[in-house]
Amino acid sequence: MSRVRVLECDHFLVACLVFTMFMVSGGTSVGVNWGTMATHQLPPDKVVQMLRENGIKKLKLFEADEKILGALIGTDIEVMVAIPNNMLLQMSQDYEAAESWVYTNVSGYHYHGGVNIKLSYPLAPSRALYVAVGNEPFLQTYNDTYLHITLPALKNIQRAINKADLGSKVKTTVPFNADIYNSPVSNPVPSAGEFRSDVRNLTIEIIQFLHSNDAPFTVNIYPFLSLYGNNYFPLDFAFFDGTNKPVRDGDMVYTNVFDANFDTLIWALDRAGYPDMPIIVGEVGWPTDGDKNANIRNAKRFNQGLLRHALSGSGTPARKGKIDVYLFSLLDENGKSIAPGSFERHWGIFDYDGKPKYELDLSGLMENKGLAPVEGVTYMLRRWCVLNPNADDLEELPDSVDYACSLSDCTSLGYGSSCNNLSIQGNASYAFNMYYQINNQKPWTCDFSGLAMVTDKDPSDDNCQFPVMIAYASSVLLHRGVLDMLLRFIGEYIVFLLLFV
Ligand SMILES: *[C@@H]1O[C@H](CO)[C@@H](O)[C@H](O)[C@H]1NC(C)=O
Ligand SMILES: *[C@@H]1O[C@H](CO)[C@@H](O)[C@H](O)[C@H]1NC(C)=O
Ligand SMILES: *[C@@H]1O[C@H](CO)[C@@H](O)[C@H](O)[C@H]1NC(C)=O
Ligand SMILES: *[C@@H]1O[C@H](CO)[C@@H](O)[C@H](O)[C@H]1NC(C)=O
Ligand SMILES: *[C@@H]1O[C@H](CO)[C@@H](O)[C@H](O)[C@H]1NC(C)=O
Repeated sequence: MSRVRVLECDHFLVACLVFTMFMVSGGTSVGVNWGTMATHQLPPDKVVQMLRENGIKKLKLFEADEKILGALIGTDIEVMVAIPNNMLLQMSQDYEAAESWVYTNVSGYHYHGGVNIKLSYPLAPSRALYVAVGNEPFLQTYNDTYLHITLPALKNIQRAINKADLGSKVKTTVPFNADIYNSPVSNPVPSAGEFRSDVRNLTIEIIQFLHSNDAPFTVNIYPFLSLYGNNYFPLDFAFFDGTNKPVRDGDMVYTNVFDANFDTLIWALDRAGYPDMPIIVGEVGWPTDGDKNANIRNAKRFNQGLLRHALSGSGTPARKGKIDVYLFSLLDENGKSIAPGSFERHWGIFDYDGKPKYELDLSGLMENKGLAPVEGVTYMLRRWCVLNPNADDLEELPDSVDYACSLSDCTSLGYGSSCNNLSIQGNASYAFNMYYQINNQKPWTCDFSGLAMVTDKDPSDDNCQFPVMIAYASSVLLHRGVLDMLLRFIGEYIVFLLLFV
């Protein structure tokens, strides 16, 4: 087959794929972010099955994971794939790289995977597939690293999409952090909203480009972080069930920070000359652990309030209609950096093993519908690593706990977290167990110079869960496992040689 033929074929398949996957009926439903920074990943096909059970029709990814995209083929789930920040430089400098990214990850992945796509699928009007270029590239902590490469990367990706003849179906966007706009301290109301002066021109250039391609503006809004960063922040204002201290802005009344933040953006866009720019809230959610305000009760209160509000069509004071939101996040990710705070590993509406953490009605209609879990999950054996109650030399205990925590996840032990009430001994057991579970319950990872022992008695209590890991090893751990096996084999072989040769 000639190259041209392959491309033609691909285009046709793409059209089919886009129409198959993204034929979402009118009206906005809630989307979810699926991040994969966990040491142990649930099999994508099981997670996709769960998404379908729960009627989740929109998905946002942080890259273009082949296995996830493969598992999505044939479903009606609309997906936003992404180019991570660390690829922006290359995409901005090298159009061929952009073209090959689009070819592999938008036009052709299904082709390489040899997945069966129904070519006769009826071609109905469809919603677009999105490509997110970068993730919060103007975040201040990035020290301007991506400031001048985001737009060039966006342009190259768009050009490649147009070249693949997908420009009308696949839309690019840039998920921005909400701190690229604000209101002056002297007049802290939404209607005074403006893009931050140091990034204003660059942001407006990007908006201009998106607008010319009929593409949306994407922003991540985090009321939890407003509360986390400010002890004086009024708690009720973070949620959606009213407050006795609303913020007045002319004749507009704000009872929650989400609307206030969203409308600050509306006004900033209005000032920039784009009052009708479509907006996607790319990330919004509430964590369940790792901070005094991060718990199941608050997360449920926030997320349920958000969905009811966003999907009701009442909109914000400055913009009526349904709000297009993607919850952050689908699953907990124990491998995320905790530089932002210990809560960072606990944003999931589902636990690491695909169990729903709380009841949540995704339709926003308050029908008290629960969430369906991921089915058929395999766990490791029901055993835990704990502090040996007979250990007497405890001198090395603090170092051992630090070591275990540094290589696993102790974010539930901190102030206000689910396991904050454990004793010193409980803390040690928790740390040992997390290390042991993350290392796939390898016997030698429950030793700590004799301080630790394996038990089959569950140390969890009502608040504080001592998890048993799911039995899907990460590739890193898998490699280590294979290496261990190899070393053991070589060791045995050498013993064999010494004995018999
Ligand atoms: C496609 O996306 C994956 C995952 O994000 C990435 O690793 C890969 O480099 C991309 N392919 C190309 C050709 O850029
Ligand atoms: C940004 O700059 C600060 C101060 O110079 C530095 O501590 C930090 O590591 C830098 N961050 C990145 C992502 O380069
Ligand atoms: C931003 O654009 C305005 C109007 O084009 C111009 O006057 C100003 O100097 C620019 N600012 C920066 C920081 O480039
Ligand atoms: C921890 O103990 C304190 C004081 O007894 C109590 O108020 C708090 O609810 C407990 N927290 C958890 C998570 O058990
Ligand atoms: C357990 O560890 C947490 C987190 O390091 C700490 O805040 C807490 O004080 C510890 N508990 C005891 C009893 O030492």
